[in-house]
Amino acid sequence: MPRKKGMTMAVRPDYPLITQRLLLRPFTRGDVDAVFAYRGREDVARYLFDQPLSRDECALAIQQRTSQTGLAEEGDRMVLAVETLDQGDLVGEVSLIWRSVEARQGELGWIFHPSFHGRGYATEATNALLDLGFGPADLHRIYARCDARNDGSWRLMERLGMRREAHFRQHALFKGEWDEEFYYAILRDEWLARRHAEPSL
Ligand SMILES: CC(C)(COP(=O)(O)OP(=O)(O)OC[C@H]1O[C@@H](n2cnc3c(N)ncnc32)[C@H](O)[C@@H]1OP(=O)(O)O)[C@@H](O)C(=O)NCCC(=O)NCCS
Repeated sequence: MPRKKGMTMAVRPDYPLITQRLLLRPFTRGDVDAVFAYRGREDVARYLFDQPLSRDECALAIQQRTSQTGLAEEGDRMVLAVETLDQGDLVGEVSLIWRSVEARQGELGWIFHPSFHGRGYATEATNALLDLGFGPADLHRIYARCDARNDGSWRLMERLGMRREAHFRQHALFKGEWDEEFYYAILRDEWLARRHAEPSL
């Protein structure tokens, strides 16, 4: 039975969130250079809606993100900085958007610095957000989408146990070309089964 609006709890975790190798926390003003180091790059922006950001644009984005730390109502987003526990390097960011309160739907996102790709950091950080989404946020389904050419992104979705639900062909224009988009999702029961089978995820 669908929940009535207003029945779902607001979520504001106790930060930082700690995983095996990483720490997830809200952004602070001191993060501008570290964020510019990846958001300023052409290769990182290739499949993002944004163009590469200038340093000033990064500063502005961070100003917004300092308040994007919890989910209180539909449309709210949490955008968290991901740091390594050993060196304290800011390696990227993960996000969770509350897309529907009534249907308990959320959407994930991720952007990591290329110097820190290939180590499983995005998988580890996003697993923590899935725990939060299906735990304290009590979501029913969490989805993610990406350009079909963004192999890194859809392969990450598959590592997280998400299922490919849709391939939209030429449904929009993206940076001057036809957009091919994948949608992936995971249901709460599917996530719980994965967690039960592999508690160390
Ligand atoms: C999408 C993105 C985050 C994926 O990064 P990634 O490094 O491939 O993902 P992970 O950090 O989970 O690392 C996984 C890789 O590390 C390897 N790995 C090493 N140690 C690992 C570990 N302990 N656990 C899991 N994987 C590990 C995996 O085998 C995998 O390598 P492979 O792709 O060669 O098989 C990255 O490509 C990115 O930031 N792109 C730019 C921004 C972007 O496009 N964002 C998405 C918009 S929709």
